[in-house]
Amino acid sequence: MKRTRVCDLLGIEYPIIQGGMLWLATAELASAVSNAGGLGVISPFAGMEKDGDSSRNLELQITRVRDLTEKPFGVNIPLYLQESGILLDVILKKEVRIVITAGGDPGHFTDLLHQEGRKVLHVVISVRQAQRAEFSKVGSHY
Ligand SMILES: Cc1cc2nc3c(=O)[nH]c(=O)nc-3n(C[C@H](O)[C@H](O)[C@H](O)COP(=O)(O)O)c2cc1C
Repeated sequence: MKRTRVCDLLGIEYPIIQGGMLWLATAELASAVSNAGGLGVISPFAGMEKDGDSSRNLELQITRVRDLTEKPFGVNIPLYLQESGILLDVILKKEVRIVITAGGDPGHFTDLLHQEGRKVLHVVISVRQAQRAEFSKVGSHY
């Protein structure tokens, strides 16, 4: 399969990125994708009970994915959540290198994550959103 710039940017073999999926993107799924040469992605809610603690769950998922793969992986953070800032704290503390944000204004956290040396991908559904995400700043109407 063709290598692309995405492979070099993320340190992966194939330009394939697993979708973040709320309760489904577990450490087991993500590590299988990463071990196969793509980018596995875990969700803070993966495998969690309905009213569980997403921060604690995310810490456990990060520990588990590192037990299962030495390859790069990412964490997906929906930005519309009240607890997205707390989840970002977990990501910073646990030294996660790749963050995939979705469902909100990327201007809120991208600069901070870049300052901390993390790679940020933002999920968009149109060219227009992609262009706005590229230049978005806190407070802009994404
Ligand atoms: C059950 C389910 C849950 C999803 N949850 C999330 C999510 O939490 N965060 C996210 O960024 N995308 C989420 N998505 C979107 C997927 O990550 C992906 O972007 C989308 O399915 C488009 O990819 P596809 O064309 O390969 O299906 C979810 C998709 C599905 C099917």
